[in-house]
Amino acid sequence: MACLRTAYRAIALASIFSSTLALDACTQIQQAVSSASTVYYPIDLLGHYEQDITHWASSSTQSSACSVEPGTAADVSIIIQLLASTKTPFAVKGGGHTANPGFSSTTGVHISMTRFSGVTYDAPSSTVAIGSGLIWDDVYEALEPFGVNVVGGRVSGVGVAGFTLGGGYSWKTNQFGLTVDTITAFELVKPNGSIVSVTTSSDPDLFFGLKGGLNNFGIVTQFTLKTFPQGQVWGGLLTYTVKEIPAVNAAVARFASNVSDPKAGIIPAYNFLLGQPGISHLMFYDGPSPPAGIFDDFLAIPHLTEDVSTRSFLSLVQSAPSNVTTGARGAFHTVSLLEYSPTMIEAILNETTFWGTQLALAGATFISYDMEPFLPNIYTHNTSPSAFPPSRGPGYVPLNLYYAWAPSTSDAIIHTSLQQSAQHLTDVAINEGQAIADAPLYTNYALYDTPLERIYGANLPRLRAIKAEVDPDNVMGLAGGFKF
Ligand SMILES: Cc1cc2nc3c(=O)[nH]c(=O)nc-3n(C[C@H](O)[C@H](O)[C@H](O)COP(=O)(O)OP(=O)(O)OC[C@H]3O[C@@H](n4cnc5c(N)ncnc54)[C@H](O)[C@@H]3O)c2cc1C
Ligand SMILES: *[C@@H]1O[C@H](CO)[C@@H](O)[C@H](O)[C@H]1NC(C)=O
Ligand SMILES: *[C@@H]1O[C@H](CO)[C@@H](O)[C@H](O)[C@H]1NC(C)=O
Ligand SMILES: *[C@@H]1O[C@H](CO)[C@@H](O)[C@H](O)[C@H]1NC(C)=O
Ligand SMILES: *[C@@H]1O[C@H](CO)[C@@H](O)[C@H](O)[C@H]1NC(C)=O
Repeated sequence: MACLRTAYRAIALASIFSSTLALDACTQIQQAVSSASTVYYPIDLLGHYEQDITHWASSSTQSSACSVEPGTAADVSIIIQLLASTKTPFAVKGGGHTANPGFSSTTGVHISMTRFSGVTYDAPSSTVAIGSGLIWDDVYEALEPFGVNVVGGRVSGVGVAGFTLGGGYSWKTNQFGLTVDTITAFELVKPNGSIVSVTTSSDPDLFFGLKGGLNNFGIVTQFTLKTFPQGQVWGGLLTYTVKEIPAVNAAVARFASNVSDPKAGIIPAYNFLLGQPGISHLMFYDGPSPPAGIFDDFLAIPHLTEDVSTRSFLSLVQSAPSNVTTGARGAFHTVSLLEYSPTMIEAILNETTFWGTQLALAGATFISYDMEPFLPNIYTHNTSPSAFPPSRGPGYVPLNLYYAWAPSTSDAIIHTSLQQSAQHLTDVAINEGQAIADAPLYTNYALYDTPLERIYGANLPRLRAIKAEVDPDNVMGLAGGFKF
């Protein structure tokens, strides 16, 4: 294993040595930063480099010339100025969970934010300052002793930074909106190296832009989020086999149309695995026990496995099987719906089976359609505008398509299939009267070549103007992602 890795590295190194530009930048960074920061190279026996560049989906990982772990905002400022002056391609990685290749990876200089790991709770203001290198698991664990929580990720392992900079759909979203709706400040290193605190009063345009604008405006070192009281929660995971699918379909339709308690949430995921469809079903209630009638029918349907209890928020988040495909190639896409109707749910099930069967030949190992029936009023908890969502009128709710596969030779067919499947489901929704033809697609689920208009809608001209102001030399264009 170690031998193979060394051989692999040698090959990777050979191609990297052609990139003397990036290696020069690595050397310059190493010489310029303080002792709080470290530059690592591919030959790193302790595995720092490997850990820095690795992503949840292996198709999101690239071999960079070096990785750098900055330890202070001042060092981030030095690094970004050096990258700007040498025009070196770079990447910024938080939790590494993007399913879009090249969004937080590079063959140039890879910046891993892992050393930004502080969690500082301020009880008087009911806010918490969170380092941009953390995953949500860490944040929940640190806040638990204070009996408070934030509006963050729903499953284990997801990074704070990309999640928050894209929008953020949480178990707490029905009650408090998206994560971007709960931000009070960003600590930002601008593309020209200035370190600023961005709030609604300090810079309303940039504050608007950062709430959904991903990595277009610089490198965020810290987020300040509002906190909310948090006690024990109820929920966890149920799995069902193929023969229970009709009953689960009916229960999902009922939940989506009839449950209005904002403390309740579900993610029914229709999966294709080992040649047949099945369901993994996450349930959440923001209290020690749910009122009767909300989840009873899900529990009454015979299930294969059950991990449901009264537990801590972190324990619930870690009950999700979000790591089972770690290391496979992976891609997401999305459809925005107004309703998870019975017709829609049937069509989603059919897509799961159709593409699961079809793509087995292409080496697909796991096909998943995650339904996210949030309440239609989730965008009304905050009326202050944000880059995403571009409209706070209709209560669009996301559907997440996730395909995992093995051979890189299948990347193209997976990509086309995701687009076709999303288009088919869009057509089904439109045919049954859902006005979703122009519905914005969620930043953090949309496939990498989704037109920016489909994500940011009417916000795009304003975002481009802010970008031109903050980053006239297009330094952030050296990093991948959806670019204004
Ligand atoms: C298993 C799984 C579960 C998920 N669950 C949810 C969910 O419940 N709700 C939801 O809304 N989304 C969810 N997502 C989507 C998630 O929001 C995105 O994958 C998001 O990109 C994760 O952020 P990250 O920091 O881990 O990603 P990264 O890959 O590290 O970064 C993603 C993007 O953010 C940029 N970025 C990272 N750090 C910084 C920084 N400090 N400054 C500027 N730009 C930065 C990167 O350059 C990149 O463009 C899930 C994804 C996965 C894989
Ligand atoms: C999932 O993987 C991440 C690493 O990406 C790890 O931090 C987390 O603890 C894992 N979660 C579980 C439940 O194993
Ligand atoms: C929602 O509740 C109403 C009234 O109880 C019921 O008639 C209807 O069938 C339910 N909808 C679904 C999809 O179960
Ligand atoms: C199932 O999905 C495929 C692929 O989108 C589609 O061609 C077919 O018409 C669907 N069948 C039904 C019954 O919806
Ligand atoms: C960086 O740009 C901002 C405008 O976005 C400006 O106010 C600031 O002075 C610049 N900083 C440096 C170091 O040039």
